Amino acid sequence: MKKKILALGTAVCMAASLAACGGSSSSQTTEAATTAAETTAAGSEAGSTEGEAEETEATEAAAAAEVETVAEGKLTVATSPDFAPYEFYAIGEDGTPALAGFDMALAQYIADDLGLELEVVTVDFDGVLSELQTKSVDLGMAGLSPDPKREGIMDFSDLYYIGGQSLVTVKDNAETYNSFEAINKPEVSVGAQIGSIQMDLATTNSPDADIVPLPKVTDIITELLSGKMDAAYIETDVAKSYQKNYPELEIVMEVPYDQEGSAIGVCKGNEGLLAAVNASIAKAIEDGSMERFIAEANEQASGEKYEGLLNENGQVQE
Ligand code: ARG
Repeated sequence: MKKKILALGTAVCMAASLAACGGSSSSQTTEAATTAAETTAAGSEAGSTEGEAEETEATEAAAAAEVETVAEGKLTVATSPDFAPYEFYAIGEDGTPALAGFDMALAQYIADDLGLELEVVTVDFDGVLSELQTKSVDLGMAGLSPDPKREGIMDFSDLYYIGGQSLVTVKDNAETYNSFEAINKPEVSVGAQIGSIQMDLATTNSPDADIVPLPKVTDIITELLSGKMDAAYIETDVAKSYQKNYPELEIVMEVPYDQEGSAIGVCKGNEGLLAAVNASIAKAIEDGSMERFIAEANEQASGEKYEGLLNENGQVQE
């Protein structure tokens, strides 16, 4: 399995500076954050005075002392950066791809909150699941759905974002592939990411279709755009994000799914870490950070500099 370890500091800084040009987030994502805030226990307030800041530092140090991680002093997080605005490669001024997205900003926030250094491991999505299963990482942050079938290999944090599921095709085919019935035929190729709940949606809703499992969502987008694939099951906000850069994409319908929302996958049995992660999530929602991370990620994912698709060598595809 291809695996890369990246120090995230620059990516997050870059995300923040690129987003500084302003613009508003879509009301839908703001609502999502609010919904998540409502369903999550209230977090502690961000300290503003010096005394409070000292207290916060002390709490962080205490939290770090209590929390056990796979590498001492570090928070090791697996992700699959093919999933804008959750996690993706943003292309900087100099053409270099850097990790960005609200999952990455939240990962940095949690690491800071726990007084740990963030280390990000990038793998395909099925790799995120196996990194957690083998307890090679502390957390999996990849727009993970709290699918009960995964409970044997990881624990789930509280939800931090609410999304939805969609059936996606291209504008030219929007009239043809517009229902489960229309795509449920052996001659219709229907994509879904390997290891994802979208694979389950594909086999449940269109079992007779030619289901094509691919390792990356960006591979699926490429196939749809090139006409090699007819339709695909994709997370709605991800489809909307790629649609900003590739307007030929068309969301034809919403797909019902009963475990909606994203959670952090936590290394199974690490109760101290799970509790600390939940406290950080609550705090990030409460102090407005989460909403800002979402707005910044959306802004950056739709920026002119962002291409979204990288080839095998991590270079931007033309
Ligand atoms: N929410 C879906 C799942 O948990 C898809 C997540 C895919 N994430 C990614 N970074 N590609 O199965």
